[in-house]
Amino acid sequence: MDKVDIAYATIDDLNDLIHIEDSSFKTDKLSRRQMRYMLSKAKAFILLAQIKSVTVAYCICFIPALPRTARLYSLAVLKEYRNRGIADQLIKNVLKKLQSLGYTSCNLEVRNKDASAKSLYIKNDFKEVQFLPAYYEDGEDGVRMKRLFDKDK
Ligand SMILES: CC(C)(COP(=O)(O)OP(=O)(O)OC[C@H]1O[C@@H](n2cnc3c(N)ncnc32)[C@H](O)[C@@H]1OP(=O)(O)O)[C@@H](O)C(=O)NCCC(=O)NCCS
Repeated sequence: MDKVDIAYATIDDLNDLIHIEDSSFKTDKLSRRQMRYMLSKAKAFILLAQIKSVTVAYCICFIPALPRTARLYSLAVLKEYRNRGIADQLIKNVLKKLQSLGYTSCNLEVRNKDASAKSLYIKNDFKEVQFLPAYYEDGEDGVRMKRLFDKDK
């Protein structure tokens, strides 16, 4: 199994991020302009997963002023690199980072019928907290999930 490196994205990663975004989502996509904003001005960080210096996945996390809740906003892995635990590794790194920043919880939204993504989050101790009817651009329902951080974890 190839080694996966986790790194913070910078503006130099914009093209790679757009490539992953365009090949992973049909609707609710971030535009180049929005992604640039995420990288430069938003209260957010983006973690990348890289294999042999190739960026294969990203995770965007919003970090509003404490004591507000952090939000795992977007997560995507290039198709040819899926089902080998890369998303799981990114989530675990994001959660560790959030805890070290002092957050006590993290929310996210996921498509209700995306059983695979939901199971990834459940495995990482997220719980379903709210049903979101017609949440997505294409009218699909969503679910809000929440992860609470134990003080001693
Ligand atoms: C959802 C998504 C991020 C998952 O990424 P991923 O890297 O494939 O996720 P993982 O490999 O960590 O986990 C996926 C599955 O692979 C399995 N897996 C993990 N490590 C594995 C390994 N070494 N070998 C085989 N399978 C493995 C996991 O158990 C999981 O199985 P499950 O679906 O039965 O629960 C990816 O499919 C994606 O980018 N989808 C399109 C974008 C999207 O919908 N993002 C929104 C998510 S809210």
